[in-house]
Amino acid sequence: MTQNVNVVVLISGSGSNLQALIDAAAKENSPFRVSAVISNRDDAFGLQRAAKADIETRVVPHTEFNSREEYDPALMAVIDSFNPDLVVLAGFMRILTDDFVRHYHQKLLNIHPSLLPKHKGLHTHRRAIEEGDSLHGASVHFVTEELDGGPVFLQARLDVQSDDTPESLAARVLQREHLIFPLAVSWFAEGRITLEGNQIFLDQLPLAEPVVFDFS
Ligand code: GRF
Repeated sequence: MTQNVNVVVLISGSGSNLQALIDAAAKENSPFRVSAVISNRDDAFGLQRAAKADIETRVVPHTEFNSREEYDPALMAVIDSFNPDLVVLAGFMRILTDDFVRHYHQKLLNIHPSLLPKHKGLHTHRRAIEEGDSLHGASVHFVTEELDGGPVFLQARLDVQSDDTPESLAARVLQREHLIFPLAVSWFAEGRITLEGNQIFLDQLPLAEPVVFDFS
């Protein structure tokens, strides 16, 4: 079972999670390969990471479209030209149309830097500190029409320290993202994790709560 599941990764920026996926895919027994990396920004550093790993890249600039309704079909056409089994959002900073999300139903994953359902949206690390959270982390979820609201199946959890700044907390969370995201993609690629309706199954058993890697 090597390298058979075809993954397309969408990015907007640094692509450190993309790098973690590339590194995992390079391992001998990886069940997935990254066939393409697509960015909405031509200056995304992740494009260089992909090129270095000999992965095809495309840029679909959102600035050249008048609306999400025009942009998303263009993006979908590029994604679908690679015939992916799984589409992964790795720091892709765009709100997606319902049509886009439905098109990739059951095969669209995102990583979000908070313990969902807490702190949907942006500035999650700052909000966790401002609200006095003692725990924070990251979540991998299937994407549904509700922003950052799809079923979560894997989380990394860690302590918020009293001297944490949004930057220091973000850095620690990001390190853990690099552990859980490749694992989540591997589980999907191995057929271990599936979505039926709004219910996640792990190894054919309904998952009541996300699997949590506790680093606290
Ligand atoms: C990560 O924090 C991820 O959770 C969020 O965007 C950030 C992307 O970072 N969705 P990188 O581009 O993978 O370094």
